[in-house]
Amino acid sequence: MDVVFLCPSFPSEMPEFVRGLATVGARVWGVGSEPAGQLPAMSRHHLTGYLQVRNLFDGESTFGAVRDWLGTQHVEPDRVECLAEYFVLTAAFLRERFGCPGLTVEETVPFRDKVAMKRKLDAAGIRTPRHARAGSVAEIRLAAERLGFPLIVKPVAGAGSAHTFRVESAADLDHAIAGTVGVAEVSVEEFIDGEEFTFDTLTLDGKIVYHNIAWYRPRPLVARTHEWISPQVIALRDVDQPLLAGGTAMGNAVISALGFQRGFTHMEWYRKADGEVVFGEIGGRPPGARQVDQMNYACDFDSFVEWARIVCWGRFEAETPRLYNVATVFKRAEGAGRIRAVHGLERLRHDFGRHIVWENLLPVGAPRRDWLQTLISDGFIVLRHPDLAATVHMADRVGSELRLLAS
Ligand SMILES: Nc1ncnc2c1ncn2[C@@H]1O[C@H](COP(=O)(O)OP(=O)(O)O)[C@@H](O)[C@H]1O
Ligand SMILES: [Mg+2]
Repeated sequence: MDVVFLCPSFPSEMPEFVRGLATVGARVWGVGSEPAGQLPAMSRHHLTGYLQVRNLFDGESTFGAVRDWLGTQHVEPDRVECLAEYFVLTAAFLRERFGCPGLTVEETVPFRDKVAMKRKLDAAGIRTPRHARAGSVAEIRLAAERLGFPLIVKPVAGAGSAHTFRVESAADLDHAIAGTVGVAEVSVEEFIDGEEFTFDTLTLDGKIVYHNIAWYRPRPLVARTHEWISPQVIALRDVDQPLLAGGTAMGNAVISALGFQRGFTHMEWYRKADGEVVFGEIGGRPPGARQVDQMNYACDFDSFVEWARIVCWGRFEAETPRLYNVATVFKRAEGAGRIRAVHGLERLRHDFGRHIVWENLLPVGAPRRDWLQTLISDGFIVLRHPDLAATVHMADRVGSELRLLAS
């Protein structure tokens, strides 16, 4: 089993997936834009070979380079995999050219283009926000007039809530138009007020074999708007509660509508106060911000390896007892510059003990990250508990009591 794996260095969970592939017996051929010397140690350890290419966005030149490289090794790839959002189309292009199974370019587009996605889902009768694609200022204004406030204006192929605007007035609309200059195409949408959840799946031949539902506190756009917030993502233990049933049904319908076959997907959906559920988006890849690790902590399994087994061998053998709710609390330091002090951690460790399962904060002395450019902020704490109220209580205490000071 020879697997071409695009982008083995980032996001930061990619080395774990390389490990997963090697663990189930695949030879893993890494392809990325960084020099080999900059690969994370785990990727370097588990890769059979690595090729640096000039431009991973360019399918044609990447295909040529990979074909020539593997040719010298007498290797014909069995799979082409990519779990990094920006390069899933390149992977699809290589897959077609090499004749490997998996999503084609045409089948991948609805996972990347939010308007194409909604069109497919609308045709399948799935409730999405009312929407219009706009390629100019005039089209944005026309769409806004037709749909009415409140609205969302966002790139058709965005990520991490970048260039995404909530619009409630003509002044907001001007602001959104100014903020999306340079974005080729935007989606103008009905604003859906409600709670926001994920629906993440491991899928095998079109059948969901494992799913995870996480609760965003607060919604991602709100978290990206206020720096002082410590955003939380909580993987829920009780995914079968009636409150979530609409989201689960919708997630299943989306997998069927898009014909997704094997691997990870990451969906987002909204639940309105009146109970109506509305679809947000789907990625043909796992969620970021170490949410895959949350699944592992929730069920005590290794989803990196189980993903690889599905993709390579078409088997899913894991037991996934849902033992815990798992909260990740992302921390943003106060002040600019370098981390100078961490306050409150000792107390939280004392009070929560073994419920804290992962501390991944920037160390004192490290420069702060740009909070708008990273989903993991200046680091995070992961904690877990069988009881949801206890989990939320601990997460809120981490949010308010743990302080990173920078100067
Ligand atoms: N139609 C909508 N109604 C309400 N909120 C929205 C809507 N579209 C996007 N948002 C908010 O913006 C965030 C980012 O939008 P999303 O479509 O998930 O793009 P991405 O995560 O790729 O940047 C969402 O998580 C949600 O909080
Ligand atoms: Mg999103």
